[in-house]
Amino acid sequence: MRVLVTGGAGFIGSVLVDRLLAEGHAVEVVDDLSTGSLANLAPARALGGELRFHQLDIRAPELVDLIVRRRPEVVFHLAAQSSVASSLDRPVFDAEVNVVGSLRVLEGARAAACRKVVYAASGGTLYGEPDASELPVAESRAVSPLSPYGASKAAVLGYLATYRHLHGLDYTALALANVYGPRQDPHGEAGVVARFAACVAEGRECVIDGDGEQTRDFVYVDDVVDAFSRAATRGGGLLVNVGTGVEVSVARLHATVAAAGRSDRPPRHAAARPGDLRRSALDPTRARIHLGWAPWTSLEEGVEAVLAAAVARAGAASEPGRRS
Ligand SMILES: NC(=O)c1ccc[n+]([C@@H]2O[C@H](COP(=O)([O-])OP(=O)(O)OC[C@H]3O[C@@H](n4cnc5c(N)ncnc54)[C@H](O)[C@@H]3O)[C@@H](O)[C@H]2O)c1
Repeated sequence: MRVLVTGGAGFIGSVLVDRLLAEGHAVEVVDDLSTGSLANLAPARALGGELRFHQLDIRAPELVDLIVRRRPEVVFHLAAQSSVASSLDRPVFDAEVNVVGSLRVLEGARAAACRKVVYAASGGTLYGEPDASELPVAESRAVSPLSPYGASKAAVLGYLATYRHLHGLDYTALALANVYGPRQDPHGEAGVVARFAACVAEGRECVIDGDGEQTRDFVYVDDVVDAFSRAATRGGGLLVNVGTGVEVSVARLHATVAAAGRSDRPPRHAAARPGDLRRSALDPTRARIHLGWAPWTSLEEGVEAVLAAAVARAGAASEPGRRS
């Protein structure tokens, strides 16, 4: 199958590209390299399958022609402005990339008569601040985003349903929990696992925002790309949570990373980030029923992998003649 991955040079997108090539698909990547990098695609290049890279902004009108020329059967749409903080500062830019850019992707998919779009929705921002009784949150909960980023990602769900209705373009929207894995940028706002791993690997003090009792649903990137792969042929017309359903406090996450790195250095607590959710976890029942998906990587295994990558990066940065 020919497939197209927007945001394929990013953290999750590049791991998805590895997976799709390993499955034998011909993969087209569209990415403007604003937060992604060609280095993320090095393992995919080494795999030696059919891979083409197009450096293009998804807002560009040429995207439609490109999709028509390449005629993918399935489009995996992951390119996004994915910072909540930047969406608060620049809501118009956020909407241009996440709403207008997504419409370009849908227009291209429609014009190319693609079979399906699989969309990276955001489970952490879609459902707002759930009551304790609603955790883990199911897809039936009302959508109530609390940031421009959450609103722009949620707006695309309406367009996906509209294109399915009007043009028969199928979709599955995957509401992702807090995704983590070795390629995640430790400086990005979402990457608390990568951030703690980098601190422990480099012998620096870790900083916990707030009291550390806020909870998140940490799901490992390999498990997430497995859900994307399954969604190419299953879960049509559905919003599907991709999370573990388990709440882990940020303090417990820190303890897990510190134990894996044999560090006994206590963390420092900083002020809580304004607007941060108190509790978050996504119920994965629908994913089990409709995608046959379940997460299989334990937090301890996932943290080991992230820490090993952080240790390798710290080692490489400290080699003589290398910039740190
Ligand atoms: N990481 C998470 O925990 C998480 C959680 C929920 C949802 N998501 C969603 O998953 C997707 C991937 O996230 P990620 O963590 O891999 O982020 P990322 O920033 O690593 O990847 C996004 C990719 O999109 C590219 N991109 C950004 N704007 C673009 C544009 N205008 N045109 C073309 N390419 C553009 C970037 O260069 C980057 O390669 C995003 O849609 C994000 O909203 C991520």
